[in-house]
Amino acid sequence: MASHGTAGTLARLKERVDEAVHAGEARAAARQHPKGRLTARERIGRLLDPGSFTELDALARRRTEGERVYGDGVVTGHGTIGGRPVCVFSQDFSVFGGSLGEVYGEKICKVMDLAVRNGVPIIGINEGAGARIQEGVVSLGLYGEIFRRNIRASGVIPQISLIMGACAGGHVYSPALTDFTIMVDESSHMFVTGPDVIKTVTGEDVTFEELGGARVHNGRSGTAHYLAGDENDALDYARALLSYLPQNNLDEPPHAEFEADLELSAEDLALDALVPDSPNQPYDMHTVIAALLDDGEFLEVQALFAPNILVGFGRIEGRPVGVVANQPMRLAGTLDIDASEKAARFVRTCDAFNIPVLTLVDVPGFLPGTEQEWNGIIRRGAKLLYAYGEATVPLVTVITRKAYGGAYDVMGSKHLGADVNLAWSTAQIAVMGAQGAVNILHRRRLAAAERPDELRAELVREYEDTLATPYLAAERGYVDAVIAPSETRREVVRALRLLRGKRDALPPKKHGNIPL
Ligand code: HXC
Repeated sequence: MASHGTAGTLARLKERVDEAVHAGEARAAARQHPKGRLTARERIGRLLDPGSFTELDALARRRTEGERVYGDGVVTGHGTIGGRPVCVFSQDFSVFGGSLGEVYGEKICKVMDLAVRNGVPIIGINEGAGARIQEGVVSLGLYGEIFRRNIRASGVIPQISLIMGACAGGHVYSPALTDFTIMVDESSHMFVTGPDVIKTVTGEDVTFEELGGARVHNGRSGTAHYLAGDENDALDYARALLSYLPQNNLDEPPHAEFEADLELSAEDLALDALVPDSPNQPYDMHTVIAALLDDGEFLEVQALFAPNILVGFGRIEGRPVGVVANQPMRLAGTLDIDASEKAARFVRTCDAFNIPVLTLVDVPGFLPGTEQEWNGIIRRGAKLLYAYGEATVPLVTVITRKAYGGAYDVMGSKHLGADVNLAWSTAQIAVMGAQGAVNILHRRRLAAAERPDELRAELVREYEDTLATPYLAAERGYVDAVIAPSETRREVVRALRLLRGKRDALPPKKHGNIPL
């Protein structure tokens, strides 16, 4: 039996910690390890800089009748990533399936409040069954409290969600409100209602994987931003994301101080031969992105969703930039609903966190068709217009080839507020492509022509030489310069240097009304 006095208090503390942390951890390991999964604390240990974790509320205890477990199924605290402070919570599936109870919810709210008050990012590691059935409306109420905190923190501190197992009900809506959601291939799932309920209500048979697997949410629903190969890959991606993000909206993103070498490199010069002579032939926009970013390093976001547009982070002269780029290799780089929403969200994320946006344009227009029109390409495509139009961060746009029609306006045009707009000599800035334009403008002449194909080819050439060039835009200052592709990195570096001091603000208002 423990003695009184300091020695006694120390012994009792050790007993409590042993029961709350060590015994709890052993129970968690026994349930998680056979499934090839880490425990909640192990995940935190791998996410944070070694030895930096400080746990909060390890001795908080379930109050509800029945099993009064310590921790209540979630581990919370703070530590550092790359030496910068972050707050974390990590859910413990071994306690009531990771479901959210009263103390559990309170612990998450508390650590979220701590993150917001101190302007540090919050990372949630999620694995849980949604509302804890035994705790009824108390659990639902606490979900509401968490959602409200996610919403209020949105655009203030970076919020990153990792989905490390099955997440159902409320456990998916909190991640959906955060900036980035990372899933693990074949081991994480997200759904509002699970296969059993679906079977009962609709009679539909569907597996966990088909319903809400990592591939579904990365490729199809657009809910997730990264498909990790395993848990370590997911944790590495979260760390990598944070290396581009500021601690909060009043802070600058972390950067290294160095001067880029502006001499043209072999990689720069290779860009002069990248764009094919035929406008119908694609090329890989990743090549351009790699040539512009420091060390060619591009952290792509949502790579599997709407691959006709590429978004992600890189650095130029050591400073983070967000890249938005049409990808001619997929759907000819057209803008469809998914691409518009993906890019709009990304531009807004960059804008919220003071990250300049570099836009690379090769876009033949919006994807035509009833499917797109009926599903709301007008309303949903407008989001991308809106995102660029409200952005106040430095905006640099490079038109590599096609910039046709409404898509010219949308993709970071000068008219929407971009600061520096450049066009390659290969740029074709026009209302539409040559074939379509010639067919409309010269329908009668072509119909009456003896050799319509010859005439059409001649008219197409004429259109390409006179209307589908960068020079009409350059004459009006809609592009600031027409450049050789090889000069792009140099010009973008110079533009971003100038724009470091940019200060712009929206007119005072409660908030805008982005079409949702
Ligand atoms: C309490 C729960 C629980 C829950 C599971 N458990 N769900 N305990 N509340 N919601 C317990 C189980 O009884 C079991 O306990 C342990 O957790 C593991 O569950 P299993 O089913 O054995 O695990 P698994 O087969 O891996 O399946 C995981 C699962 C499934 C897919 C998450 O458990 C499931 O579908 N649960 C229900 C999900 C759900 O409908 N949640 C409510 C959503 S409503 P033992 O003791 O046997 O280990 C909601 C509203 C929020 O969240 C508001 C949103 C806007």
